[in-house]
Amino acid sequence: MSASKTNIFITGATGYIGGSVFQRLVQHPNAANFNLTALVRSPEKAKFVRENFPVNVVEGSNADLDKLTDLSERADVVLNIADSDDLAAANAIMQGLKRRHEKTGVKPTLIHTSGTGFLVDDARGMFSTDKIYHDSKPEEIENGVPDSALHRNVDLAVIDADRKGWLRGLIISPPTIFGMGSGPLFDSGLVNKHSLQIPLLIKISLARGRGAGVVGEGKSIWNHVHIDDVADSYIVLLDAVLKNPDTIPHGREGIYLLENGEHTWIDVSKAVGKAFVQLGLAKSAKPVPFTEAELQKYIGSSFMGYLALGSNARGRAEQIRTLGWKPKYTTADLFANIKPEVQAHAPAKKPFVQRVAVKFQQIFH
Ligand SMILES: NC(=O)c1ccc[n+]([C@@H]2O[C@H](COP(=O)([O-])OP(=O)(O)OC[C@H]3O[C@@H](n4cnc5c(N)ncnc54)[C@H](OP(=O)(O)O)[C@@H]3O)[C@@H](O)[C@H]2O)c1
Repeated sequence: MSASKTNIFITGATGYIGGSVFQRLVQHPNAANFNLTALVRSPEKAKFVRENFPVNVVEGSNADLDKLTDLSERADVVLNIADSDDLAAANAIMQGLKRRHEKTGVKPTLIHTSGTGFLVDDARGMFSTDKIYHDSKPEEIENGVPDSALHRNVDLAVIDADRKGWLRGLIISPPTIFGMGSGPLFDSGLVNKHSLQIPLLIKISLARGRGAGVVGEGKSIWNHVHIDDVADSYIVLLDAVLKNPDTIPHGREGIYLLENGEHTWIDVSKAVGKAFVQLGLAKSAKPVPFTEAELQKYIGSSFMGYLALGSNARGRAEQIRTLGWKPKYTTADLFANIKPEVQAHAPAKKPFVQRVAVKFQQIFH
């Protein structure tokens, strides 16, 4: 590795967020000055990435803590995008960055992926809230978010390592992400191109077969952002770190919320219901509340259903905008993306001849 190049280590490069970021990195105008290393756990995906992108692919998983530490020790910047909640993996990465700092005296950067799940309340779709968190005021999050909140244990570990001076800790916190991953990585068919919450709503609505579902009355509010704008946000932070490392907010001040609009869950459910009717998947577009048993059955935990589809999580992404992030996609794009997302998850229609054959079998059986 050339000493003048920036060593970048990425986890989760074959995922929805990480794949989108990875493709941005290889297309970056400065890519010739990057030494890019990706940890990939699936041999099949590792082979595809190795053969198609200028990157050093290391096979391994988050459970390979020594590997994470070694790869991080060699990195100027680590982008941790595999798992927001894997504390052991995050600690292994931070140990590597600590070693690098101790050996070189230079402070490396960790860009860690969290999520606005840490802002949620227990509304269960029954109310919206006026509580809005501003990332330029870290005390709002410190005072309003319990240490036990989702993702928070890992975020606090990153903030602690930053405070100890081992690294520069930046925490990107996306809200509901919408849109499908695009580009050669996703076209390969090997990589997940779908987000979490809206696809979840669609999939469990289809599985229960009673039309579009909603948690409670769907009154609660989340922010949203398009996957391409999420990918851009990592590049904005990376560029800021490479250009002006000493001025960028980090540690307790380094939480970067993302958002470019808000939705209520009932509006999303109504749009899903409309798409169901248009695609012949339901007779009525009217959302029908999920029962607790349905959430339990299809998600495995009603608590996760309430959290993902029935809570409030409202914030304002002030810090990343100050650094030049300009999201392109809006609330209108979120709603325009719902029908294609439903299409992607709808059961494939059998060919006409096969449908007729099935009908005959039903009639004459
Ligand atoms: N999507 C959202 O709306 C959203 C919003 C906020 C936060 N987040 C959080 O961001 C993180 C990434 O989300 P995503 O939507 O990009 O997920 P994803 O599509 O499932 O991608 C996860 C990536 O990380 C890799 N990975 C996961 N666990 C691993 C392990 N133990 N060892 C090695 N690699 C591992 C996966 O490898 P494989 O390719 O082998 O599966 C994949 O490349 C998650 O923790 C998620 O909770 C997501």
